[in-house]
Amino acid sequence: MSYQRRPLTYYAQTMPGVEKITWREIQERFPQATLRQYLFAKEQNGIVLFDDDVSFKELLTLRTAEDIFIQAAHIPRLTYDYGDLRQIERLIETGELFGKVTHILTSYLKLTRRPTFRVVARKTGDHRYTRAHLEKALSLGVQRRFGRSWRQVEENADFEVWGNVLGPVFLCGIRLSDRTMRHRHERAVELPASLRPSVAAAMVYLSHPQPNDRFLDPMCGSGTILLERLAFGDVHAISGADIMAGQVAAARTNLGKKKKQVRLWRGDGEHLPVAAASLTKIVCNLPFGHQIGSPAQVRRLYPAFLAEVARVLRPGGKAVLLSSEFDRLKEAIRQQPSLEIREGHSIAVLGKWGRIYVVEKVG
Ligand SMILES: C[S@@+](CC[C@H](N)C(=O)[O-])C[C@H]1O[C@@H](n2cnc3c(N)ncnc32)[C@H](O)[C@@H]1O
Repeated sequence: MSYQRRPLTYYAQTMPGVEKITWREIQERFPQATLRQYLFAKEQNGIVLFDDDVSFKELLTLRTAEDIFIQAAHIPRLTYDYGDLRQIERLIETGELFGKVTHILTSYLKLTRRPTFRVVARKTGDHRYTRAHLEKALSLGVQRRFGRSWRQVEENADFEVWGNVLGPVFLCGIRLSDRTMRHRHERAVELPASLRPSVAAAMVYLSHPQPNDRFLDPMCGSGTILLERLAFGDVHAISGADIMAGQVAAARTNLGKKKKQVRLWRGDGEHLPVAAASLTKIVCNLPFGHQIGSPAQVRRLYPAFLAEVARVLRPGGKAVLLSSEFDRLKEAIRQQPSLEIREGHSIAVLGKWGRIYVVEKVG
């Protein structure tokens, strides 16, 4: 339909640190997309801004994104003073782009009643105004633009207007995705150390999924990485393990009908019941600190596990490993002469910085 085929500026919201991986996924899926570079790395906050003319439906299938927004207003240079709020309010009340985007979305949503809206304000940086001031400016802008023809609500709005003040930049987007993109698996069992699906997807993406993959997550917890690998398409063989019986049971429950495709077992990552050189991909989110087990257990686990990774991977095989104890992980990788680090990505996991290493078996 015509409204879906005009180039617009979008932004994907992902976890901080995953932006470059999301941009790689966007480029691979939609080669005509172009990146906009006006957010600074420091203020990136998980946002990837790009122009594209693909359909909304296609955009919503991006796996490493948590949400997709259409850009509806933008100020490249804020003053950090109260004048910013007046400018933001005016841009929403009278801006041409805000009008165009809400018009396109109104026909897309096929609304037959008075539209509802809510505003969400996000702010990072030392501005003179607060997040609450920003929220008020966003609400006033929308109210003045649409008067009584739009109604403000707290939940389940037709239009979610998100205003991001990220240091010197203001970026306003209207949310295209709903919560099912972020919480796509509806994991029946939610364990405390579960990964966000978007981060699990980013790790699987970095493993370069192939139909002939022999894939293992040896510390699978609630099974998020296994679910994401299945979502990426065909896989020759896929298995998951965990040392805790409860986690294996949680993964089985969360896999639901897909559990038939996955071999699951309870076992120790220090002794994998797997033949040498039999796997092409290992993707794993390792335990760290006090999160699971004691620090002493973790200290012993890393070198022993990496020796197993080196043993069970085929030459050319890849391991994508995430930990918040990245120095310990890097040291354990370097102890294995047959493993080489190809890439590293620092990302936010459960409020801490962690690092993903992409490792290749070379000989
Ligand atoms: C950070 S969690 C993984 C979370 C998982 N990615 C998810 O989304 O649920 C680490 C997992 O490693 C498991 N684990 C700890 N020590 C292990 C070992 N020696 N062998 C196998 N699994 C182990 C823990 O039981 C835990 O489930």
